Amino acid sequence: MGSRKGTSFLLPVLLLLTVGSVAPLGECRCHRPPAIFNFGDSNSDTGGLQAGLGLVIGLPNGRRFPGGPTGRFSDGRLVIDFLCQSLNMRYLSPYLEALGSDFRTGANFAIAGSATLPRNVPFSLVIQVLQFLRFRARSLELVAKGSSNLINEEGFQNALYTFDIGQNDLSRMFRNGLSYSQVVEGIPSVLDEIRGAIKASVGKSFFHGISYSSVLLQMIYERGGKHFWVHGTGPLGCLPQKLAVHKKEGSDLDSFGCLASYNNASKFFNDGLTALCDELRKELQNATIVYTDMYAIKYDLIADYTKYGFENPLMTCCGYGGPPYNYNVNITCGNAASQACADGSKYISWDGVHYSEAANAVAASKILSTYYSKPPVNFESFCLK
Ligand SMILES: *[C@@H]1O[C@H](CO)[C@@H](O)[C@H](O)[C@H]1NC(C)=O
Ligand SMILES: *[C@@H]1O[C@H](CO)[C@@H](O)[C@H](O)[C@H]1NC(C)=O
Ligand SMILES: *[C@@H]1O[C@H](CO)[C@@H](O)[C@H](O)[C@H]1NC(C)=O
Repeated sequence: MGSRKGTSFLLPVLLLLTVGSVAPLGECRCHRPPAIFNFGDSNSDTGGLQAGLGLVIGLPNGRRFPGGPTGRFSDGRLVIDFLCQSLNMRYLSPYLEALGSDFRTGANFAIAGSATLPRNVPFSLVIQVLQFLRFRARSLELVAKGSSNLINEEGFQNALYTFDIGQNDLSRMFRNGLSYSQVVEGIPSVLDEIRGAIKASVGKSFFHGISYSSVLLQMIYERGGKHFWVHGTGPLGCLPQKLAVHKKEGSDLDSFGCLASYNNASKFFNDGLTALCDELRKELQNATIVYTDMYAIKYDLIADYTKYGFENPLMTCCGYGGPPYNYNVNITCGNAASQACADGSKYISWDGVHYSEAANAVAASKILSTYYSKPPVNFESFCLK
C-alpha cells in the first residue's frame, strides 16, 4: 500500500466502523486477507489482559471505540487495528477471549504488561508463542475432523506473524535501578527471546529443565510460518510516565525534552533488533522478515507534533496533575480522581504510557508508507492472491 493510500483510512467516515466489521476501504485491493497472528504487549493488546485476568478496563479507555471499551489501552484504535483495516479485515480477537471471538482471520496473543523476560511469567513472549502453537495444533485437529471455519495448514503458512515487544523489558530494567550501561548489557538476552520466537536458538533452558531446544522444532518458522513483521520499540524516554516519575535534577534531556538515557536504550535495542532481522533474513530460506522503525515514527510525532495537529507532545490526555506531563503515578487514567481531556486528537499520549487513537492513526499510516520498513515491503503484498 503506497503512502497516498496509506492515509485513506484516516477519513472520518471510518470512525463509524463497528467492532469486528470489515473496513469499507474502497481503495484497498485486498479481497483475501491473510490470517494475522500478533504477539506483544499493551501496544497491540486488543483485550487480552482483560480477558486473561478478568479485569475491567473501562472508560475513559475506549471512549472513541465504536461500542465502547474493549480492553485496549487507548481512547480508540491501536496501530494493529489500523493495520488490519488496511487489509480489509476484522480486528483481531484476543486468544483468551472466550465469548464473541472470531478466529477465522487470526488471533491476538499480545497482553498488556508482557515482556520477553522472565520467561516463566504469564504472558511472556515464549508463553504467547506456546499459546499460538497450541492454537495451531488444535485448529488443525478440528479442521481434520471437518471444521471448515478454522484456519488450515495453508492458512498458517500464508499468515502474517507480527511482533511488537521489548518496551516492558527496557522499562523493567530501568525500574529495577539499572544504569544505562547495565540496561544495554541486558538487551542481548531480550533479543535472544525474539529470535527464539521466530526461530529458536539452541541450548537454553526453558521453565527450569524443559529444554528450550525441545521447543525449537515447534517454533513459528519450523511450523511453516514465512511472513514476519517486526516492530522496533518507541522512544521510551518520551513517555510522560517516565518523565514524571524518573526525571531528576540533572537528568540528561534530549532536544525535545525526553530522557536521553531511556531513548538511548530504545535505540540500542532497535539496532540489535535490526541486526537480528538481517541475520534471520539470511538464515531462514524463503521467509519475509520486515523490520519497522517505530522509534523514528513515534519520535517524529513528538518532534514535529504541530504538523499532525497535536498540541502537547509530552502531556497525557488522561491523567492527573496538569502540566508539564499531567501524570501522577498514584492517580493514573481510570482512577476516579483522574481526568480525561476533551479532545484526545490533540494529544500524542493517551495515559502516559499508551498512545492516543489519533497518534496511532498517524503511526499506522507511516508504517504503511513502507518508508520506515526494511526491506520496504508493501503491507498489502501479504494479501492472498
Ligand atoms: C546517549 O547517546 C548519545 C549518542 O551516542 C551520547 O552522546 C549521550 O551521552 C548518551 N546519553 C546518555 C544519557 O546515555
Ligand atoms: C524455498 O523455495 C524454493 C522454491 O519455491 C523451494 O524449492 C525450497 O524448498 C524452499 N525452501 C524452504 C526451506 O522452504
Ligand atoms: C504516591 O504515593 C506514595 C505513597 O503514598 C507517595 O510516597 C508518593 O509521594 C506519591 N507520589 C505522587 C507523585 O503523588
